[in-house]
Amino acid sequence: MVTIPHTTMTLAYVTGPTAPSRLFSGSWSLSHPPAAQLDMASLRFAFLLLSLSCCPAVVWTATQNLTCGQRPLLDSPGASRVVGGHDAEVGAWPWQVSIQKDSRHFCGGSIINSKWVLSACHCFYPMPVVSRLWVVAGQRVLSASEDSSQRRGVRRLVLNKGYNKVTHDNDLALLQLTEPLSFSLYVQPVCLLTREEEEAGLELCFISGWGTTTYKGMAVDVLQEAEVQLIPMETCNQWDWYGGILTQHMQCAGNEAGGIDTCQGDSGGPLQCYNEDLDRFYLVGVTSFGEGCASVNRPGVYARVSRYYSWVQYTQDQVRSGVASIQPWLLLTGLTLCTMVQL
Ligand code: ARG
Repeated sequence: MVTIPHTTMTLAYVTGPTAPSRLFSGSWSLSHPPAAQLDMASLRFAFLLLSLSCCPAVVWTATQNLTCGQRPLLDSPGASRVVGGHDAEVGAWPWQVSIQKDSRHFCGGSIINSKWVLSACHCFYPMPVVSRLWVVAGQRVLSASEDSSQRRGVRRLVLNKGYNKVTHDNDLALLQLTEPLSFSLYVQPVCLLTREEEEAGLELCFISGWGTTTYKGMAVDVLQEAEVQLIPMETCNQWDWYGGILTQHMQCAGNEAGGIDTCQGDSGGPLQCYNEDLDRFYLVGVTSFGEGCASVNRPGVYARVSRYYSWVQYTQDQVRSGVASIQPWLLLTGLTLCTMVQL
């Protein structure tokens, strides 16, 4: 079990056409997940073992239910090759969403299941009017009206209470959608790592987003992608790199020579890596910050998703079980939790 803060600040609103009046509510929870929280991976494994002993049809059904990280429209990634990227193919990153305010893209995010999207905390400051936020999935060209596109409102925005505006630690937010997404060739959930050790099986890694292609440059209309290497923390935190400011909840990615990186507007979006044995993509990082963009020895820094598996599950469980209560005054406290950083 990881030791990051599990406390969350929940901003809960009801929005969208079915709820014209905004229900302004917030909730605060300071409890930790139960020590004996069920480990879904073990449960699934146990279920598979059990199923194996009775009938293969059950195994097939169970496997189908585990679908994530797959790209129905593309073959497995070859060794082919955002700053330094190129246009993504149709259906290349079906979990990538554009988070928009008043129809204007401002951050990325990743679909983790039909009702939840994972993004970055710093994307949501100053505190947004949640009823003006939209999540757009299945889109590749932002200005186009694509048939594959699905647009959803945001029912709840949950910020990781451990976010630190100075260190950018715990830069994560969860968005609950007003209506579930329907999975298609263009809209799919990404897989989540349940433990840090699972990062070991990952090979090819990619970043994607609609952010700027140069530092302080112009944002793009067509989703960009680039292959990157995961950079070990010992390297990234060296004195002539980030000089010790990074924490173990972060992951650096880029290439040693610079030139390939995420940039402004890519925040919240995925750093995704392919597991060849399982033929799936896993969400390894959430785009968080960097010094400049694509500079030598200053790669992109990502929130290391494997460290937050229990926070992600716990948050959803809390919301599903209705633990979130209405305490609007705590919204004010929330304003200080997360600050927009121009990095
Ligand atoms: N903070 C930026 C954003 O809000 C992301 C910056 C990523 N920077 C980098 N050099 N990789 O979009």
